[in-house]
Amino acid sequence: MADITRIGVVGAGQMGAGIAQLAAVNGVDVWLYDTVSEALINAQKSISNNIQRLLTKGQISQATSVDTVKRLHCSSRLEDLHSVDLVVEAIVESEQVKKSLFADLDKILKSSAILASNTSSISITRLASATSRPSQVIGMHFMNPPPIMKLVEIIRGADTSEDTYCATKCLAERFGKTVICSQDYSGFIVNRILMPMINEAFHTLYTGVATKEDIDTGMKLGTNHPMGPLELADFIGLDVCLSVMKVLQAGLGDDKYAPCPLLVQYVDAGRLGKKRGIGVYDYRDAAAKTGGPPRL
Ligand code: NAI
Repeated sequence: MADITRIGVVGAGQMGAGIAQLAAVNGVDVWLYDTVSEALINAQKSISNNIQRLLTKGQISQATSVDTVKRLHCSSRLEDLHSVDLVVEAIVESEQVKKSLFADLDKILKSSAILASNTSSISITRLASATSRPSQVIGMHFMNPPPIMKLVEIIRGADTSEDTYCATKCLAERFGKTVICSQDYSGFIVNRILMPMINEAFHTLYTGVATKEDIDTGMKLGTNHPMGPLELADFIGLDVCLSVMKVLQAGLGDDKYAPCPLLVQYVDAGRLGKKRGIGVYDYRDAAAKTGGPPRL
């Protein structure tokens, strides 16, 4: 397959904005699409601020910063993605919503285009079944935040072709990432191991074993993790963590993955983590001091 020069990113939230920035900085033309216009405005602001910061720190040149801005196109029309070589989908973690989007994209994109999902846990094989091109559907799982984290986990669905795998791996490597490859089983590699740990941290808090601060300090200083599990859950988004636990429970058929009731209750209460200003921790005071909600 020819080199990938244009990509579409669907979903301009914390992951989509980061993936769009990463691609544009690395010389790829990007069409960023979201159904919510405010998400596109916020993504554009956050990317401009990040580019400015990289320039000030001397991590990119003036020419790269100007080119990056030129390469980024925001759109609220899905049809604008018609000419891209690959789409990275980064919308809400719901199989039904993702399948419906994949079916729409399948009709709009050129026949050679690859459909990649940034899903944290949903079956790539099932997403592929919503399209007429299952051999060109793949998981491309970036870590948060995408411009900084070194890993991309690539997931091969039951029918993903070798060409699709090689083109996707090559793109991730152009972005400076290290690639690992997983077969298509719930949670893949990283979240299969990480999310049960986060869920267990919620159980530890729920059953009154320790305070949130002691749980996080214990895991940071006791096991050398850069962030505690509850802090990390807030950073990822508690809605995302809950969705992944449900997928693990259903997909692996084991109730050891049942989400902790406290995690469920926080999501029910809208305490989704840093992106909402409150999760396990409360970030609203810090946001008021810096003049806005915390953006990742
Ligand atoms: P987010 O909630 O920050 O952003 C999701 C965006 O998708 C929103 O802007 C929303 O308006 C948009 N959206 C929802 N439905 C849409 C549709 N049908 N068409 C177009 N846009 C739509 O979510 P986040 O955290 O960026 O997660 C996105 C995906 O990335 C999820 O699948 C998640 O599991 C995955 N992921 C998340 C990570 C994290 O740390 N938050 C890490 C790795 C993967």
